[in-house]
Amino acid sequence: MILPGFPVARPRRLRTSPALRRLVAETSLNVSQLVLPLFARSGRKQRRPVDAMPGVFQLSPDEVLREAAAAHALGIPAVLLFGIPDKKDAKASGAYARNGVVQQTVRLLKKELPSLLVITDVCLCEYMDHGHCGVVRGEKILNDPTLALLAQTATSHAEAGADILAPSDMMDGRVAAIRAALDKNHFIDTPIMSYAAKFASAFYGPFREAAGSAPQFGDRRSYQMDPANANEALREVALDVQEGADLLLVKPALACLDILHRVKKEFGLPTAAYAVSGEHAMIKAAAAKGWIDERAVTLESLLAMRRAGADILITYAAMDAARWMK
Ligand code: PBG
Repeated sequence: MILPGFPVARPRRLRTSPALRRLVAETSLNVSQLVLPLFARSGRKQRRPVDAMPGVFQLSPDEVLREAAAAHALGIPAVLLFGIPDKKDAKASGAYARNGVVQQTVRLLKKELPSLLVITDVCLCEYMDHGHCGVVRGEKILNDPTLALLAQTATSHAEAGADILAPSDMMDGRVAAIRAALDKNHFIDTPIMSYAAKFASAFYGPFREAAGSAPQFGDRRSYQMDPANANEALREVALDVQEGADLLLVKPALACLDILHRVKKEFGLPTAAYAVSGEHAMIKAAAAKGWIDERAVTLESLLAMRRAGADILITYAAMDAARWMK
């Protein structure tokens, strides 16, 4: 492209008024892009604050409903559900229990708020006594034996009424396994949003307190990706697309804007950015100190994810963001 030079070209001409700036804005934020993550635990009237995530709570199903209803009223189209079971074991039984906390909460939400989309996180770490996302032998996290449990978990979420299933475990072949199980059980129309490019990130720290899912030994680097690798991320995504992923997810968000951009460009599927717990904690902490403007930084971060290619924004600040976008 040939551009004239200065003084014919004066880029500032298009920045002279708010209306003009709005007219030429390339990217926009809309409440329809937001997804609010929520943490469900058993009980009634329970709201347990998560220390490192101000404004985030472990909620009993009735309180999840309250929170989801408030989000829905603001125009937020979807919530992303995580479960905190009462008991953990070595088979993650709570993940696929018919009456597990996620299954119960999904049924309640779909009954009371049928037009709110319920996305469920499909993973085993919250339900495993060792805190890993797969079946463990010795210190090894086994891939193939984990697939059946993930497929069973996804199917039980679909049976409860989940609208979209979001596997976040990073086992090889999980999307295919989940798709096959769903189809076999006649959930041919239930989409899979794959955490296709998920890095082994220190930004998930606060989440592990929220979900009680910190690994009891080692770390997640034998299944989640090395933050050094971008080409590998594209191969991961390609596999998930081949296996039938309907929507893609990249996380963490701000530390992976390059990945987000490449994934959207290469595959063109609906793509979500997940502004993870550590990103939320950093903004909240600096804002509490008066060091940054919470509203401006939150909205600018979300806009950056959109500019990089995200269609969908998963953020703990979804309710505030929805109010600020009005
Ligand atoms: C479960 C899962 C994690 C997150 C989403 N799903 C934690 C992890 O992989 O350790 C992180 C979300 C966040 O930090 O907000 N596997």
